[in-house]
Amino acid sequence: MSVHADVAELLRARVAGNVMVAAPLGALTTFRVGGTAAILVEAESDGDLLAVSEFTRGVVPVAVIGRGSNLLVADEGFAGVAVRLGAALRGHARTELGVRFGGAAYLPNAAKTTARLALSGFEFAAEIPGSFGGAVRMNAGAHGRSMADVLVSADVVDLSSGRRRTLSVAELGLSYRRSVIAPGQVVTGGEVRLEAGSGEAVSARIREHLDWRRAHQPGGRSAGSMFKNPPGDSAGRLIDAAGLKGARVGGVEVSVVHANFFVTAPGATATEVLALVDRVRETVVARFGIQLELEVQVLGHTMPR
Ligand code: EPU
Repeated sequence: MSVHADVAELLRARVAGNVMVAAPLGALTTFRVGGTAAILVEAESDGDLLAVSEFTRGVVPVAVIGRGSNLLVADEGFAGVAVRLGAALRGHARTELGVRFGGAAYLPNAAKTTARLALSGFEFAAEIPGSFGGAVRMNAGAHGRSMADVLVSADVVDLSSGRRRTLSVAELGLSYRRSVIAPGQVVTGGEVRLEAGSGEAVSARIREHLDWRRAHQPGGRSAGSMFKNPPGDSAGRLIDAAGLKGARVGGVEVSVVHANFFVTAPGATATEVLALVDRVRETVVARFGIQLELEVQVLGHTMPR
């Protein structure tokens, strides 16, 4: 039997969540392109993650995929164990300081939860269609606010060691779309500090965020911003000014709504996305002398650039 078949069998015996072989990983991302994962585990608890750690350590690579809203899976797929958090880690609990969310909580729903609890400070999260855990790792943000502004601490399981730790916001080292959390580490939950407010006012601000997003960002199959904003400028503005709105490679297009979003059509491939990435970066460098850095995470045989 192959290593993968052995690992899958061991995991099935120990993990409460689903364990799938040759799972269509690309289809789980918001881009909806890319290949399969040799194994996909849906972890429902820390115990599940510890089992993944135990059976993969030193044997096969692991990757944490969150909700797949900021992820490009290579067409060749991922020859390892992809881990995502299951429904049991989607919950929330009121705390003295604010709210504790599970790592799999969907941020727009988490924002609405804070409105129901009449707590203010997390409205910006309504604009970010990703998971709480992924948002911690990327220090996701919108409209001048980011996770760093509200986070108290996060629980992190390191799949390479099986170690579980609670890291304070200072220890998480959050800066623009960055943290100290490595690709093989999973954020299983965290606490945000919020202020008492009016539920109606919080709901109204959430609606404003959602309306802004609908007006300024494309719907459809994208992974949000492709590139980080260079210091003092906006990747979208630069790509637009370089005349690239509507530029295409195969089934992938630079959105005509917002130039820092790539939108995929059915049948598009990850290779086409990466070819468009190259074309956009080359054009922006030639026009403005600015190197755009990918914000979207790349997983699989195609090396991250
Ligand atoms: N702009 C253009 N053409 C475009 C797009 C934008 O000229 O095609 C101009 C806008 O007119 C504006 C400026 O560029 O003057 C900035 O644009 P925008 O307000 O849309 O913000 P952004 O810098 O492009 C950032 C985040 C978004 C977040 C918005 C709103 C990054 C890379 N992007 O976008 O986050 O939603 O602010 O707060 O930091 C994401 O991270 O995936 C994401 C979508």
